[in-house]
Amino acid sequence: MLKEGDIVQALELTQRHSKFWIFSLSKDSELSTHLGKINHNECIGRLFGDILSLTKGQVVLLNPSPRDFLRHFRLKTQILYEDDCAVACSIAGVGPGMKVGEAGTGSGALTAFLAHYVSPTGHVFSFDINPHHLANAKENLSRTGLAKYVTFTVQDIRSSFDVEELLDAFFLDFSTPYEAIDNIAAVLKGGGHLICFVPNWGQVEKTVAQIRKNQDFFHLTTFEITRRNFNVNPDRHVMRPVFRDLVYSGILIHSIRINSELR
Ligand SMILES: C[S@@+](CC[C@H](N)C(=O)[O-])C[C@H]1O[C@@H](n2cnc3c(N)ncnc32)[C@H](O)[C@@H]1O
Repeated sequence: MLKEGDIVQALELTQRHSKFWIFSLSKDSELSTHLGKINHNECIGRLFGDILSLTKGQVVLLNPSPRDFLRHFRLKTQILYEDDCAVACSIAGVGPGMKVGEAGTGSGALTAFLAHYVSPTGHVFSFDINPHHLANAKENLSRTGLAKYVTFTVQDIRSSFDVEELLDAFFLDFSTPYEAIDNIAAVLKGGGHLICFVPNWGQVEKTVAQIRKNQDFFHLTTFEITRRNFNVNPDRHVMRPVFRDLVYSGILIHSIRINSELR
């Protein structure tokens, strides 16, 4: 049952271009929308999936996922797109209780995915060289209720740094990941995953070359994620790809940390 403090998504119940709103339930508060006001008191005590009638339409109350949060984030940087975030988390096996690291934090898009998957018992250590980006990401995460699973630190990841305990996975999303490979080897557990994201071929080449040079890593795969969205209208027997869509985000490089003593 929904209670004060819960984070809720209200999705407009319409087939075309549904809007949605994400908010933290607070007694006696209201949210103005083009469909009318959403009264928080009317949401408290309801269940996810319940429909709320407003003066000019209806909304359904949902439990927001990280991809929903991203659409409400204030962006100060390029972000890692939701499909890349989801696959990166999946191949690194990110799950409850894991301790993971990332650099740079950017606007906190990947951070939200990581925090969501490691919660409620794991933790994300998020590093960025730019304190303004960190402050913005922290604010974004605070609005999701996930900030308590993240430690934000100002750090140039190309310089060595300490962690309290070795990490299960590390994600690099900035222009020169190849300059941080040796530092990441030092903070990853044996069997831990390193995922780098870069958009340009030169960056891919340098990153893979650097990983291959480091005895502590075994390079597994380099790949791209693509998605094609479709418009479907069964009444008119229409199904065709969305013409204007994201066609390229970047390349993912996946390696694992090995205990290299016997290599
Ligand atoms: C593309 S953004 C990361 C986006 C982030 N993954 C997201 O999903 O929102 C790159 C970030 O890396 C940070 N950065 C650049 N060089 C860095 C370095 N040497 N160490 C740590 N962070 C760095 C930048 O300040 C910027 O915030």
